[in-house]
Amino acid sequence: MLRLSLLCLVTLSLLLACSTPSEYSPSIDNSRPASYAVASAHPLATQAGIEILQQGGNAFDAAVAVTAVLAVVEPYASGLGGGGFWLLHFVDENKNVMIDGREVAPLAATRDMYIDENGKPTKQSVNGSLAAGIPGTPAAMAHIAEKYGRLPLHTTLSAAINLARNGFAVSEFYNSRASAVFERLKTFPHTAEIFLQQGKLPQVGYILQQLDLARVLENISENGANGFYRGEVANKLVASVQQAGGIWQQQDLSDYKIVERLPVTGTYKNIEIVSAALPSSGGIVLMQILNMLSNFDLQVMNEVQRKHLIVEAMRRAYHDRAQYLGDVDFVDVPVDELLSIEHAEKHLADLSLQYATPSQNYIQQNIVNSLPLDEAAQNTTHFSILDQQGNQVSATLSINYYFGSGFVAQGTGVLLNNEMDDFAIQPGHANLWGLVGSVANAIEPGKRMLSSMSPTFLNDGQRIAILGTPGGSRIISMVLLSALAFAEGASASEMVQEPRFHHQFLPDEIQFEADVLTTQTQSSLESMGHSLKDLGRSYGNMHTVIWDQQINKVTAASDPRGIGQASVGTN
Ligand code: DON
Repeated sequence: MLRLSLLCLVTLSLLLACSTPSEYSPSIDNSRPASYAVASAHPLATQAGIEILQQGGNAFDAAVAVTAVLAVVEPYASGLGGGGFWLLHFVDENKNVMIDGREVAPLAATRDMYIDENGKPTKQSVNGSLAAGIPGTPAAMAHIAEKYGRLPLHTTLSAAINLARNGFAVSEFYNSRASAVFERLKTFPHTAEIFLQQGKLPQVGYILQQLDLARVLENISENGANGFYRGEVANKLVASVQQAGGIWQQQDLSDYKIVERLPVTGTYKNIEIVSAALPSSGGIVLMQILNMLSNFDLQVMNEVQRKHLIVEAMRRAYHDRAQYLGDVDFVDVPVDELLSIEHAEKHLADLSLQYATPSQNYIQQNIVNSLPLDEAAQNTTHFSILDQQGNQVSATLSINYYFGSGFVAQGTGVLLNNEMDDFAIQPGHANLWGLVGSVANAIEPGKRMLSSMSPTFLNDGQRIAILGTPGGSRIISMVLLSALAFAEGASASEMVQEPRFHHQFLPDEIQFEADVLTTQTQSSLESMGHSLKDLGRSYGNMHTVIWDQQINKVTAASDPRGIGQASVGTN
């Protein structure tokens, strides 16, 4: 007996093997994480976050630093001209808040602004200054720093200011994104001047400086949100947009407000989920799918049954996204009903475990059509942070497409988003992500366009995960698959590597990464009535931090599909 107890003390793993979780009374203090961690889409951003944590900043200070550095070094993915959602967990109050820094439609926007005289959608929701919603990222950074940070903005923004002023080395990854929208970058002289090298793709290793952007960041560091939304920078933004035929006005900028919202919460088996609330569809669609799946034991299913079931649940939840979801400050959305168990049961009533349900069965007049999306889906960004107090941040940020609208407002270096395309610009018209929508997501002045960005926290009582990814409409299914993997014990690195497949109601097809479905699985799914689309490549760029409270160990991982970096450290 004595020998047994001694053995149990020898190593932590033995100790765990010798005791059940309920008996486990550790000498380990697991009330605070043993380490901090930052996982982001770019090594320079991760490094900036780590340095802030080392200087005594909390997770929220680090989030400001990471947001700002990503805005400088990933101009293809996010930036001051864009928006996003920052999910914050305050350990002392055991409280979660979502900072909604989503762009809003300009006050002069109209429902049909992207429809030409023949009733056809134009390309202006994608290309140039008219495609840009009013940015939310600068306001969100200032708000997070001022309300929740410990360090001043001039400290948290200093890494980004230095990188904008002194430059960063262009990577192959940068160039592959720039080449995807090369023609658009060339169209806009202020854009080409900054992001190309004499009109061509920069050489790998070229030091890309953004002097105007450095000044704008400095202005924010001195004046907070006013440094962007009022005064000199605001004047330049509005003048440049208007000169190019856009519709921004001073009031759009001075009126912009972030909103603190309660995240969507729910449970799946023993896991508590906290995820993005409207105007992101992420949390609702994720929870709807999980509510349906919680009626089944996925672990006893074979691969085909399991994939079929997950796809059918995705189909139904994405249908509801298209039908009901939009900005709750403008339209009534039956959120409680959509998240209810009764609603999941209603969906399950016509779900066959043998056959695919054609999406046509659900199509109503206002959502008729969709286009397949063919997109590598890394043109938005994500980061996850845990500090040593246990505060958490999960943030997904975007300017929508690669390099957003392609338009840089003269004298600011600010690349504007093309997030207006996330509105349903015409019933039945698919956006860049192949998504259709209804009047709930129609354009209105000051309204936020529906998003799929899904920064998420998971907690199974022993382990806490902080995760998210870019990927347009596929963001939600990626987070779902990694949450299901977490439920089965996956590590951070397994979660980011999880093979991906997706169904979004319309188009009615299962999309999947190359080699994710065997030929046999494919033919079984086809015989059940599914259409399949092998994307022939990978997609997404997930960054995950896990704190295993039972053994007090922090791990972090960045998606091998991207160039991100995950770092864990101790103060
Ligand atoms: O808010 C949204 O859902 C989109 N604008 C996100 C775009 C995105 O993730 C692009 N990445 N591949």
